[in-house]
Amino acid sequence: MAIDLKTPHGVPNEAEGSGNGKYTKLFENLQGNILKGFARKYMRLLFLNFEGEEQEVKQWIKGLKLTSTMDQLYASKYRKLSIKKGVKPHDGGLVMNFFLSAKGYEELGFDPKKLGRKQGNKIFQEGMNSKRSLKWLGDSPTKFEKGYKEEIHALLLLADDDEQELIKKTEGIKSFLEGNGIAMVFVEEKGAALDNQKEHFGYKDGISNPRFISQDIEKEIVERTGADQWNPILPLKKILIKDPFTDRNDDNYGSFLVYRKLEQDVEGFDNKIAELAKELVLTKAQKMKGVTAEEYAGALAVGRFKDGTPLALSDTYENKMPNGDVPSPNNFTYENTDRKGRKCPFHAHIRKTNPRGQGLIPKRFITRRAIPYGKPNDSNKKGLLFMCFQSNLRAQFVFLQKAWANNPAFPRPKTGIDPVIGAGKKVEQQWPKTYNSKDKVDFYFGDFVTMRGGEYFFAPSIGFLNKI
Ligand code: HEM
Repeated sequence: MAIDLKTPHGVPNEAEGSGNGKYTKLFENLQGNILKGFARKYMRLLFLNFEGEEQEVKQWIKGLKLTSTMDQLYASKYRKLSIKKGVKPHDGGLVMNFFLSAKGYEELGFDPKKLGRKQGNKIFQEGMNSKRSLKWLGDSPTKFEKGYKEEIHALLLLADDDEQELIKKTEGIKSFLEGNGIAMVFVEEKGAALDNQKEHFGYKDGISNPRFISQDIEKEIVERTGADQWNPILPLKKILIKDPFTDRNDDNYGSFLVYRKLEQDVEGFDNKIAELAKELVLTKAQKMKGVTAEEYAGALAVGRFKDGTPLALSDTYENKMPNGDVPSPNNFTYENTDRKGRKCPFHAHIRKTNPRGQGLIPKRFITRRAIPYGKPNDSNKKGLLFMCFQSNLRAQFVFLQKAWANNPAFPRPKTGIDPVIGAGKKVEQQWPKTYNSKDKVDFYFGDFVTMRGGEYFFAPSIGFLNKI
């Protein structure tokens, strides 16, 4: 049955029996974590360089127990059922994804041009270390870690709530691959979620994301105060493309994955926030609530307070629960709340990467599945293993980074770059001195996130990988 990719709609959760089976094949053949996040506490990313004979490598890939979207939906169904019955909820267990780079496809005898034929995905063939990509994204290869200068063929993602299980499984795979000469694991990244969905600068992350499964959309509407202003439903064609290496009539879909290791200089960020704070004047409400100038300055850089409250909606944070574990509002546009950028400045990270002003279907929207690495409160390196899915690399991720975040003239001249992820001309941004006032402070803020290496991948359909 033909899948409707074009109309934005909630896809029924076939594991709950809410569909008529129309999406079952798609869910069985689509890797998990794409339409819905895995949300596991711990993650390992193994970057591989194939070394074995083509057939041996293929044999290994065929044997991988990858987690399909259907597996993921069943796991969350059983988890909910056990919570309802009052028994200890199953943590869902280990989940696994497998991705191939253009070089990886070539190594296995497939022509990556088939995937990158369309203009928007040609960049996939060239890779993230290509001259064009480096220029577009504003990356400096001299800052890349050694491993990321190597040729990456594939990425194996493993995640679990039980870290010991995850380590056991990862070590098993590594010694099998290296012991049998199938692939060299030349980089291993260790992701670990921080408390309350925070990233290392201390802000709640993973709030605004497209939703695809009906239940997730309903939950979003209840938790995030509706969807009449900002609608999180994206058509499937913004995230899925037909797997070109399978029969055209099968429901075999995949998605492009952008991976970037982004190191965060937390101390530098905090010091600069403190400097900016000195220039700002708090409102009465902020003073009464105890909001500090640093908290206000940080919110101006990100666009949300640390608990996720958007500046476009409030000059103070919610602070309903001490752990900040409140559903954060997401039902707003700047058009309706702050056309002049006096509440949430035009350069704020969330306003740069989603200006929320282009109608209900955001053309450029990406589906983020990042996880932090490194521990808070120590001097070791830390940051974000940034990952996002989309169907068109150039129109989505690359556009966000290049034409918006790195562009000091977006959305208007003299805006400055995105203070969190922008890499571009160091033009001073203009910061509202006081919430919702015309007075501006000129201040340059940036360079606290450094790109340490990455690649473009494709998440092949399970239908393809089973027959590879
Ligand atoms: C939202 C932090 C990298 C795109 C957010 C939020 C935070 C955040 C705190 C608000 C919570 C939310 O809405 O989910 C960071 C940090 C980064 C980083 C610390 C790097 C270390 C990136 C990159 C991109 C990106 C590389 C893409 C080029 C977005 C988008 C949103 C967002 C699209 C949602 C905006 C909205 O819909 O309102 N980020 N981010 N972020 N970020 Fe980032």
